[in-house]
Amino acid sequence: MTQFRQPTVEEDLAGLDMIYREHILDHYKNPRNFGKLEEYDIHYFDNNPLCGDEIGIWLKLDQDGKKIADIKFTGRGCAISQCSASMLTEEIKDKSLEEVKQIKSQDVLDMLAIPISPVRMKCAILSLKILEAGIYHYEKRLMQQKISIQE
Ligand code: FES
Repeated sequence: MTQFRQPTVEEDLAGLDMIYREHILDHYKNPRNFGKLEEYDIHYFDNNPLCGDEIGIWLKLDQDGKKIADIKFTGRGCAISQCSASMLTEEIKDKSLEEVKQIKSQDVLDMLAIPISPVRMKCAILSLKILEAGIYHYEKRLMQQKISIQE
């Protein structure tokens, strides 16, 4: 059961200076890295339980399994959740998993560069939470494989 109405993009952009409106609209209309990967190492999908908006992330690692060679996302939701996913995917391409794990909520807010009210924090960091969960489950699976090989 959702309890939060998804704001329209116009509502999200209301009151913003032109430069910030364009920054958000650009990512909203042309989301970077939008789509799915056929071959991937990490995939995670989740939603914001308050509104039901959702994001799925696919990551392909390089041969060493250390750096992000490719990334895609799909999603459905408010401008803030979808723009932050677009910006985050741009930011982390070619970064190592260790670097990505250092990204904090404040870094995503800095990428968005618009005021985010407390009630919209879940929108802003939805993609980061999904990314973190995907990496967590991937590393857990690797660890379990290692343990089962040793046994
Ligand atoms: Fe649903 Fe923003 S209103 S994630």
